[in-house]
Amino acid sequence: MRDIASRKDDHIRVAVFREVEYGRTLLDQVYLLHDSLPEINLEDVDCSVRIFRKDLSIPLIIGALTGGTEIGLKVNKILAEIAEKFRVGICVGSQRIAIEKRDKLAIESFTIVREKAPTTLKIANIGAPQISRLDEKSLLDWCIEAIDMINADALEIHLNPLQESLQLEGEPTFSNVLDKIRHIAKSLNKPVIVKEVGFGISKETAAKLADAGISGIEIAGLGGTNFTLIEMYRRELNDPEVRSLYETFLNYGIPTVLSVCEVLEVFNGTLIASGGVRSGLDIAKLLAIGADLAAIARPFLEKALLGKDKVESYLKRIRYELLITMFLTGSRTVNELKTKPIVFGNDIICWLRQRKLSKCLKRVNLE
Ligand SMILES: Cc1cc2nc3c(=O)[nH]c(=O)nc-3n(C[C@H](O)[C@H](O)[C@H](O)COP(=O)(O)O)c2cc1C
Repeated sequence: MRDIASRKDDHIRVAVFREVEYGRTLLDQVYLLHDSLPEINLEDVDCSVRIFRKDLSIPLIIGALTGGTEIGLKVNKILAEIAEKFRVGICVGSQRIAIEKRDKLAIESFTIVREKAPTTLKIANIGAPQISRLDEKSLLDWCIEAIDMINADALEIHLNPLQESLQLEGEPTFSNVLDKIRHIAKSLNKPVIVKEVGFGISKETAAKLADAGISGIEIAGLGGTNFTLIEMYRRELNDPEVRSLYETFLNYGIPTVLSVCEVLEVFNGTLIASGGVRSGLDIAKLLAIGADLAAIARPFLEKALLGKDKVESYLKRIRYELLITMFLTGSRTVNELKTKPIVFGNDIICWLRQRKLSKCLKRVNLE
């Protein structure tokens, strides 16, 4: 189990000290129409939303990052305090380490979130490779343990087949995962969300997940933190010759904007847009396309390691950028923003046409 802990810390070290962002989200090809006559005041704008029975002051979740180690404890403590203070959601990193290892530090690195963020939206996290090999009974025990550990309002299951394929200690075991997800969604009395880790989710995958009865999808598309790069840099620490395998997959995945359009086509549950979301303007664009909220992961890790005040000022900036963008589009509320005109660039239109994504084509008056 020592290797899980050192892997967690390697991920943090690489994610923070190396350049690990790659690919295009295509957010640069989403235009909100500027309204020089918004006929509202900036102070009238309200970006609050209600998600999974929790009121959030910003449609934002601090994305799944870490836990299980000393650094994980420190990061989770700071992020939980900020999530509670600003009423944004928080998802913890994979809880496998605490459930399997059962040592005091690993568990405490997650329970701290329950302690420091007693009221805001909290989301537990487990991975597909683990649920693939557990029998149905142990699986539900795992899920309940993960939820209770942080008093979670929902459970997130991450799908990461490319990361597992490229990771030195990876477990690319995905057989029966859909049936297991179906079983969890049916048996748990909490919403189940399925997420990627930076390669996006397609319409076909979303349709299977919708049929399995889940409540939410976090798309985590291409264009932000890139796990191909993270695993490459980790591996390179031991073997500088291994680059080519990783370079092949550097640009693999579904860009964030396109994955939002893919999932919107077939899924009516809560849609969380993530993967390279870096500003309040980005969040506004994704909400205007049709997402319910956004998640940001790596930047929060970076700021948390610099101190709580850095996380706080980052979050204030994001909120202010979102409020300004809503003001500039004459949107008093998030629901109003969703009705404002948007324009897509050619790469997006080309994908939407080939993939027959009629909801997003209609959104830009092309169907
Ligand atoms: C250091 C690090 C650790 C992560 N660990 C997890 C994890 O345990 N579970 C998970 O679902 N996602 C994990 N992620 C993925 C993020 O939740 C997110 O999907 C991805 O980083 C893309 O978002 P971003 O571009 O805002 O960073 C991790 C990301 C980073 C940078």
